[in-house]
Amino acid sequence: MQLTRLIYASTISDELSVEEIKSIVKAARQGNPASGLTGLLYFNRRYFLQCLEGARTEVNDTFHRIQKDKRHKNIVILEYNEITERIFPDWSMGYLPESNTTQTVYMRFANNPIFNPYLMRGKSALGLVKALKETLSTK
Ligand SMILES: Cc1cc2nc3c(=O)[nH]c(=O)nc-3n(C[C@H](O)[C@H](O)[C@H](O)COP(=O)(O)O)c2cc1C
Repeated sequence: MQLTRLIYASTISDELSVEEIKSIVKAARQGNPASGLTGLLYFNRRYFLQCLEGARTEVNDTFHRIQKDKRHKNIVILEYNEITERIFPDWSMGYLPESNTTQTVYMRFANNPIFNPYLMRGKSALGLVKALKETLSTK
């Protein structure tokens, strides 16, 4: 089965609390290992940026489920590709809230200082995700 990577942006629903974000990550970490999915969930107060990688059918099935989730909206695919290698082989779902460190990483790939994934090119979003991995690894 083809290995694929999908990166999307979405907007956090108005009523979403920190606890709810934690429960999303928990659900992802519980569900993803059985499907062989790995990836990263990055967010600030307004937006999610998620990278999902794994078998094409599993990435698609999970993404369809995620799209129906009322905890976010305006879901836009930024990048979708067949790949030969995962970025996150060790992470069923890396969880990364915005911080001063991640903001500096973001500035490498963006022309605006406030994180907004909708303004990013697919290739820049991919570059960001790869660079954020280094932040995860050193935590
Ligand atoms: C931003 C966001 C990211 C999510 N990421 C995942 C994920 O990586 N894997 C997963 O199984 N569910 C993820 N979920 C949760 C799914 O949307 C869904 O609630 C969960 O898979 C349970 O689906 P079910 O109730 O249809 O069984 C995510 C939800 C949101 C809002």
